[in-house]
Amino acid sequence: MFNTQHFEENLATSWLGRSFFYFPELDSTNSYAKSMSRIDTLHGTLILADSQTSGRGQYERNWQALPLENLTFSLVFEPSNHSRLTILTLACALAVSDVCGEQLKTRLDLKWPNDVLFEGKKLSGLLTEAIYNGNVLDRVIIGIGINVNQTEFNTDLENTAISLNSIDGKRFSRERLLARILSKIEYYYRLWEVHDIDLVRTINKAMLGYGTWAKLNVNGLDRDGTFKFLGVNENGALVVLNKDLEVDTFSYEQVRIKVD
Ligand code: BTN
Repeated sequence: MFNTQHFEENLATSWLGRSFFYFPELDSTNSYAKSMSRIDTLHGTLILADSQTSGRGQYERNWQALPLENLTFSLVFEPSNHSRLTILTLACALAVSDVCGEQLKTRLDLKWPNDVLFEGKKLSGLLTEAIYNGNVLDRVIIGIGINVNQTEFNTDLENTAISLNSIDGKRFSRERLLARILSKIEYYYRLWEVHDIDLVRTINKAMLGYGTWAKLNVNGLDRDGTFKFLGVNENGALVVLNKDLEVDTFSYEQVRIKVD
């Protein structure tokens, strides 16, 4: 079971994760965060479950994670507006990548729009959901799943998913790992808030395929030819150079990049 006391002893943040809800089991930490009342969700609230019965991924997929072996949690943020949420999600992915990469002493890649990969296999996935009150942004929920100590994956995932344990061969303390990741996210959140351009540059350098020619799929359709992947801009749009050397930008939902 996740040791909440051990986690809280290791937590060095000033606001992130200080409001903490732990559950042995939930359907989905993101769904729970969405259902919480405004009073319970302070900026920086952490919801963690040792097991999810209906963990959710991007594009209506499910997120599978063996109970007690992994990290499945959601963070609640209350930014003043909903612009640049792509960068906030990537900043959280960067924090996961930094901390896990330090542990493994290796480079991990960010994959647009919000995965963390080791040698092409998925170590972590993020799901960002914005909740509105009418037209006004109420909260942003960033759900993060990290494969930590799980060593075997279902046949449909065995070629595409990987855990820290299967890379390094040792078990990791989920409590210490999460405490470190939250410190990093808190740091990057501050940079995101002040529109720090270096944050965007760092994200881009960590991105798989940055600066290379790649294939694009836009709204489910493969585009002809290749495009040079220029990363995200300061507004969080994806930027590519087309074969006529013109710059095209795409919003988060529209586009997938296929890097060889
Ligand atoms: C993806 O890669 O498709 C995103 C996966 C996001 C999974 C996390 S686990 C914690 C949080 N709760 C959920 O139901 N999903 C996210």
